[in-house]
Amino acid sequence: MIEDKKFNRLVIAAYRLPFKFIKSKSGVRAVQNTGGLVSAILSLSENMKNRFFDKDNKIVWTGIANNLPGDFSLADFKNEHFNIVNVKLSPKLNDLFYGGFSNDLLWPLFHYFSSYSVFNNFYLEAYEEANNLFCEEIIKITKPGDYIWIHDYHLMLLPKMIREKIPDAVIGFFLHIPFPSFEIFRLLPRRWRNEIIDGMLGADLIGFHTHDYAQHFIKSVKRTTGYDCHQNIIYTTSNVVKADAFPIGIDYEKYHAACTSKTVLSEKQKTVNNLAGRKLIFSVDRLDYSKGLLLRLRGYETFLERYPEWRSKVVFNMVVVPSRDKIDKYREMKKEIESTVGRINGKYGSLVWMPIIYQYKSLSFNELIALYDTSDVGLITPLRDGMNLVAKEYVACQVENKGVLILSEMTGAAAELNEALIINPVDNVEMAEAINNALEMGTAEKETRIERMQNRIANYNVFTWAFDFFNRTYDTKKQQNLLNMKFINKDIYAQIASKYQHAKKRIIFLDYDGTLVSFHKYPEFANVDKDTINIIQRLSHDQRNHIVIISGRGVDFLDRQFQDIEINMVAEHGLYIKRSGKKWESTVKSDIRWKERVKPILMEYVNRCNGTFIEEKNGSLAWHYRNADMDFAQLRLNELKDELAEIIRYKTDLEILEGNKVLEVKSGKYDKGQAAKVFMTNEQYDFIMAAGDDKTDEFLFQALPESAFTIKVGLSPSYARYNVSDRTQLLQLLENLI
Ligand code: UDP
Ligand code: G6P
Repeated sequence: MIEDKKFNRLVIAAYRLPFKFIKSKSGVRAVQNTGGLVSAILSLSENMKNRFFDKDNKIVWTGIANNLPGDFSLADFKNEHFNIVNVKLSPKLNDLFYGGFSNDLLWPLFHYFSSYSVFNNFYLEAYEEANNLFCEEIIKITKPGDYIWIHDYHLMLLPKMIREKIPDAVIGFFLHIPFPSFEIFRLLPRRWRNEIIDGMLGADLIGFHTHDYAQHFIKSVKRTTGYDCHQNIIYTTSNVVKADAFPIGIDYEKYHAACTSKTVLSEKQKTVNNLAGRKLIFSVDRLDYSKGLLLRLRGYETFLERYPEWRSKVVFNMVVVPSRDKIDKYREMKKEIESTVGRINGKYGSLVWMPIIYQYKSLSFNELIALYDTSDVGLITPLRDGMNLVAKEYVACQVENKGVLILSEMTGAAAELNEALIINPVDNVEMAEAINNALEMGTAEKETRIERMQNRIANYNVFTWAFDFFNRTYDTKKQQNLLNMKFINKDIYAQIASKYQHAKKRIIFLDYDGTLVSFHKYPEFANVDKDTINIIQRLSHDQRNHIVIISGRGVDFLDRQFQDIEINMVAEHGLYIKRSGKKWESTVKSDIRWKERVKPILMEYVNRCNGTFIEEKNGSLAWHYRNADMDFAQLRLNELKDELAEIIRYKTDLEILEGNKVLEVKSGKYDKGQAAKVFMTNEQYDFIMAAGDDKTDEFLFQALPESAFTIKVGLSPSYARYNVSDRTQLLQLLENLI
């Protein structure tokens, strides 16, 4: 059961406003803009039922109103649901931002038409500038408690821009188009893709239509930023962000009920009369190459060729809604569609029958519903489509359950509408067969298919979609708040500092990689810098301080890094201990004959997973996968663990230790926690601190008494009492203590 949570107002940011404004004889009319985004949000806003927001507040919709009639001002537009805020862009900026970066680059690229993508630096500059202008407007109007909901590929930089200005803003981002696989995304220049990923990660919650798109995004985050991701949660340096699938729905009841309204009934009657007993196939799409319009015509032509018995008994009503017709690719395609329609009609048509009725125009709501309701077959065959709402609307409008939906497997909707006849849009023969099957399908089968699909879309409708999204945002915020309570803020720092100042005997454990030093592609080059050495030196000069570098690194490496400092050290996760001024000692006697057996296995995985390598230490063998493809390495890691588990079953003193992008096999029961205890035994410390970033540091955090100040470097979950976001913050804290 969804619990209601209240935000103040809903502030939407989307390129398209819900309406365009058209001058007519009776004044200026507001006409709904076309596209899935507008349709969905409009339904939502009309019926929001004030569930999540203060009931007296209207939705604020920030977008671009181009081509306003000369003497018309948006201030004159009154609507019971919205307050509209116009972001003013000059025509030139709009061309480069909307026509350029958004629709000449991102749209084709994200729809897998990479050869159509135009990479142009001016486009990017315009995109940044336009996102910035949106940001300025939103900053002006946002009040505490508002929910800022940013939509689609035009505004991918906006979440971060707003976050920088309002750090505690509640921000949701929803992408209405596919997020492509990394192989496609990486075609963007490195700086551009980093900027896009960072921009999106400014949101608290990032939504996609399907699980696949969410996974593609998470993979791109891993590959571009290296951030830790666990399931759908991304731990950036400053926030916890969630990415998940929220398949957008429709206002099912509105569509279903409209079929029986008086106005629609009379529209329907007109169509039925014109059909004169013929079967009707329909499609409705915006003019777009992603919609597969030409291939659809080819499929229909193949159908007429292969099934001559249907000629003159069927009509295909192809409605193409004008869209982006200033962009060359769209204009060229329009011409091609029109000539193909002419050719097919010329080839098969007669005085009394036209196989295709082609319309290049928008339909009114009633016309659209009448078309859905009277059509025997919905032929929805995009080459790539984030979701496709027309498919859902058609299903909702089957009040007598007699229609059949043919749907491309390349649409997001196909993941939900399994009972459609699913086809591959480039396969004209499969499409022709599907049309024939649809026309010949028995009533019982049609009913079963439609009913099942209707159940799904009636349950997960546009309201459930939005409420699910708001709820998940709220949960993410709660999770962030829990983490914030652990962040070392001024008050927590004051407690630590006071305890430090009053302590007579202190011990401070510091992990090496990821804590004192950033990760390096090759571990041997991850050297400690002068400033950090300086901090450690100054800390250890204080007689009251016992500093322990506690690391998984080998003895020689640590000796090299800290050669000038008298300091305590722990190497190889606790196998060796060195007290300040003394020699290294081993804590357990380890028998390393097992290496002969394990090394060849690890070697095999080096060969099977490019970019990985083995590090050999005295008591352990480590397989590093930092430089490999993370998803592939994860797969290999699981296989490797299975293989090693077989050996460990018989050799019970062997252990697997998982660190940051490394798997280590060691013998003997030692870890950083036990090593720390060696330093604590028979000693009375009145100040204990430990900092680390890795899973292996969790042993340390758990072994120390509750009063210890344990600090996790990074945001992922930990036993530590506190968090800092990165090593610079930790070093700052140590510096301040000194
Ligand atoms: N639509 C419209 N006017 C029309 C034809 C269609 O507003 O003349 C609506 C249709 O009802 C649907 C949306 O436009 O809700 C198209 O969304 P879809 O997800 O199918 O495709 P998109 O245009 O977003 O790529
Ligand atoms: C798709 C996009 C929307 C866009 C719509 C219409 O649905 O996801 O963001 O508004 O197409 O395209 P247009 O370029 O006319 O806004």
